[in-house]
Amino acid sequence: DKGAYPYYMLKEVDEQAIVARNIASHYYDEDGNLQGIGCAITDKMKEADRLYIVAAGTSYHAGLVGKRYFEQWAKIPTAVHISSEFAYDQPMLSEKPFFIFLSQSGETADSREVLDNVKKQGFPALTLANVMNSTLTREADFALPLLAGPEIAVASTKAYTAQVIVQAILASALGNPGFDLKAELAKVAVEIQAITDDKEKFKAIAEDALADQHSAFYIGRGLDACVALEAALKLKEISYIQTEGFAAGELKHGTISLIEDGTPVFALLTQKKTEGLLRGEVAQVAARGANTIVFASKSVAKEGDAFVLPEVNELLMPLLAVIPTQLIAYYATLARGLDVDRPRNLAKSVTVQ
Ligand code: M6R
Repeated sequence: DKGAYPYYMLKEVDEQAIVARNIASHYYDEDGNLQGIGCAITDKMKEADRLYIVAAGTSYHAGLVGKRYFEQWAKIPTAVHISSEFAYDQPMLSEKPFFIFLSQSGETADSREVLDNVKKQGFPALTLANVMNSTLTREADFALPLLAGPEIAVASTKAYTAQVIVQAILASALGNPGFDLKAELAKVAVEIQAITDDKEKFKAIAEDALADQHSAFYIGRGLDACVALEAALKLKEISYIQTEGFAAGELKHGTISLIEDGTPVFALLTQKKTEGLLRGEVAQVAARGANTIVFASKSVAKEGDAFVLPEVNELLMPLLAVIPTQLIAYYATLARGLDVDRPRNLAKSVTVQ
């Protein structure tokens, strides 16, 4: 039931602070110790020489973020693959692979095909899914819940944040993040709430920048490039505005030729080491007439930025940076008079290959 909300998507965007808290109370006990991830899972993962994250759409984008946690905290090399590609073009695997399937529905046919294939080859697999007792959770050796609650809108929002958080917690069970992840996740929940409370700002930005546009861009570097991909998918799938998300450094290798007077270019800037180059890229597209809209975290924000993001540990910033982009997609779609929850040609769960 969407209650007083006009669309499920907005309700689900607003639920993300609660989802972050629910996940923490499931995976940590009162003393802050991890619980709910059995040794059978962590032991098997520690034996692996490489993790393979396999997923589609938004879940794939969450995997791109999760890769950083497994590599930087758990020190296990991690590859992220699109399931529809992996299914028919299996890359050369390491000697001891461990597979992680990410899925909201647990029913995505492309991912199921890969799970079938890797099971036949005898490799261990873990599914992180929102719908437990789904095909992907039943057929993998292990399963962990995402605990986002039912997600009805076709555009995935809270499942993405849940996937990023559960991957972070799982990686922290394998290695050391070097900070108090539980405390930081509590801060993430508070700040997600602060951003969603400020939603009118994004309504104004979306109406101003996107009401009459046919194309738009999201740019960022590093983790911000991962969020740019997700932001672009969200905007294009419900507003039908052709949107590209990409690593900002690639602009000069081709995409910059698409910039015209008034083209909206959203730039995400939450990683200090990328500040100088990203600011340069924003200036380059602005000089070619782009309407630049910068969402920057507090310590790197400048006058003229469209929104200042609150700060948490840099590796967790995708959890905050994604929220404005979900709201931009929502309000742009609303401004164009479209059905936010049910975009044309799309199904919530893609059960065919
Ligand atoms: O249920 P899954 O997470 O496996 O679904 C994967 C994609 O189909 C899904 O994320 C899709 O891209 C969404 N519509 C994106 O908002």
